[in-house]
Amino acid sequence: MSSAVILEAENLQRIYKMGSVEVGALRGVDLEVHHGEFVVILGVSGSGKSTLLHLLGGLDRPTEGRVLIEGEDLSELSDNQLADVRLRKVGFVFRFFNLMPQLTARGNVELPLFLADVPAQEAKTRSTELLDLVGLSERRDHRPMELSGGEQQRVAIARALANQPKIVLADEPTGNLDTATGADIIQLLREVNEEQRQTVIVVCHDQRLTSVADRVIEMRDGQFVSKRLGKGGKM
Ligand SMILES: Nc1ncnc2c1ncn2[C@@H]1O[C@H](COP(=O)(O)OP(=O)(O)O)[C@@H](O)[C@H]1O
Ligand SMILES: [Mg+2]
Repeated sequence: MSSAVILEAENLQRIYKMGSVEVGALRGVDLEVHHGEFVVILGVSGSGKSTLLHLLGGLDRPTEGRVLIEGEDLSELSDNQLADVRLRKVGFVFRFFNLMPQLTARGNVELPLFLADVPAQEAKTRSTELLDLVGLSERRDHRPMELSGGEQQRVAIARALANQPKIVLADEPTGNLDTATGADIIQLLREVNEEQRQTVIVVCHDQRLTSVADRVIEMRDGQFVSKRLGKGGKM
């Protein structure tokens, strides 16, 4: 039985133009991700990981090629429609957490709910559940600067899950954490994948993430160079 394809990238290319200089950050990437998969894309700094992740989540548009989420071609969407796809279908987790400093943990988790017009009472219930899920029920009213790095990343993961997105995209989620805290975050992403049946794509250079992946893809100079077996023996 093959599960549904949730995300596809076809011949993705991204050239950044800086004056007269062109940087080919992404040079023809094809990818097919199935519902519930945990995919890790490994590459050194500068290999095009963030560029790829931004294109997959509709934060940026490709120079060539296209991305489809549940069969919907993102290149055919207006900027407003693309913003709506990001809000409802994609959850982002970043290396530096990117939380709103003036909002509490709860406020950060509720922000995407309010943007999606979820009523206040429901948003409160949902943010409570999500902060419980990530182990922060005692920290709901703390602001980011009153939380450790690992706790901030947990808030970011709860926020990413707020609108029950189809896909969670994480850009070096352990890159700014010490070893033990990074391991906890990897464990949490794995639980989110296994228990919530959430599709997860992580780009990183943290080899430890390969241990929880269904599939590992290596990236170099804007291209995929190899695919390795992940934990389930899948390609
Ligand atoms: N906004 C940008 N403008 C110009 N060049 C960029 C921009 N973003 C990234 N690049 C270049 O594209 C390449 C890939 O960058 P990036 O996707 O950030 O790689 P990674 O996330 O793997 O470190 C690098 O050579 C980088 O310098
Ligand atoms: Mg990067």
